[in-house]
Amino acid sequence: MLDDPDRLAEVDPSGLMGTLSSLPEQLEEGLAGVRGAPWEGPPSGRVFVVGMGGSAIAGDLAHALGRWYGGLEVQVSRTPRIPPYVAKEDLLVAISYSGNTWETLSAYRQALGKDLACLTIGSGGELAEMSSARGVPHVPVPPGFAPRAALGYLLAPLLALLARSSARLGDALPGALADLSRIRGEWVPAVPARANQAKAIAAALEGKVPIIYGPPPYAGVARRWQTQLNENAKTLAWYSILPEANHNEIVGWLEGPNPDRFAPVVLMPPPESALHGRFQPTLALLGERVPVTSVPALDEAFVTGLLGLVLLGDLVSVYLAVLGGVDPRPVRSIDRLKAAIHEEAGEGSSAEGEI
Ligand code: F6R
Repeated sequence: MLDDPDRLAEVDPSGLMGTLSSLPEQLEEGLAGVRGAPWEGPPSGRVFVVGMGGSAIAGDLAHALGRWYGGLEVQVSRTPRIPPYVAKEDLLVAISYSGNTWETLSAYRQALGKDLACLTIGSGGELAEMSSARGVPHVPVPPGFAPRAALGYLLAPLLALLARSSARLGDALPGALADLSRIRGEWVPAVPARANQAKAIAAALEGKVPIIYGPPPYAGVARRWQTQLNENAKTLAWYSILPEANHNEIVGWLEGPNPDRFAPVVLMPPPESALHGRFQPTLALLGERVPVTSVPALDEAFVTGLLGLVLLGDLVSVYLAVLGGVDPRPVRSIDRLKAAIHEEAGEGSSAEGEI
């Protein structure tokens, strides 16, 4: 079924597969758009990203890159309150594709109230309005995308900041984008299922609840896999981190009932990681009870491997949607929830209270 282009067009009429596949082009366009922008890394070297869902994930990837390449420490905050320790020497980056997500707006308002150095990223909404009114630098991204399908645009300004603070990342970046386009070619719909890793993984996940494991440098990637499976394939899925899961979850896998409801997917550490080679015992023990999908790290620079695995997970989620016959684009449950939250806030509740 995954090799039938008509079936893909029928299930994915908006072409989410193509939009998600355009990650390298989005990054390139986004980076070109901020070339020469006057803002730079903060004096403290600390960046706080506030955002939710498909917007916040850009912060997770930036966190991983900052940790790997050095230069900036990036923390992500997914609550309506900013951490009390954000200081004037730090930079607060509020990201909301729609520009209307209440948790993000609430945190941003608080940051403005404290007169913190800010930068905002989004396609419009209240976020852009507030920034323009306050003279805060705002990076506009093109409208009309599902937020989660605009990752390249949302990430590009953070990548630019990181690359200005780390020559190693700055040097790796141009090649990384070219390599990313090359790697993508292995997973596109035209490559038949027998030779297509993304289609093979989707087939292994059909009818199961995927649990995505990643090593700490790939925590953001594992979360992206989860959330793309949730939103595109409309399935429950969770992510978790190894080796931490060796100290708790492994007991449930090995000693709990019905593990075969779940499908573990293990994103292997990059070869340069100290964790590489330490994942084998976990794979072997899990394999005693359930089939395990292990996804080798891409043999590329860290930034390429990180973004490449994001792309792979994105495509897996759409192939799984096709197998399930569900349109990957609409997320009606999120829309319903946002409408309900909006209504509740309108009724005078303390939507911006302490959480
Ligand atoms: C929808 C999606 C969601 C949104 C989230 C926050 O495609 O991925 O997770 O990203 O509801 O909305 P924004 O990104 O508009 O702030």
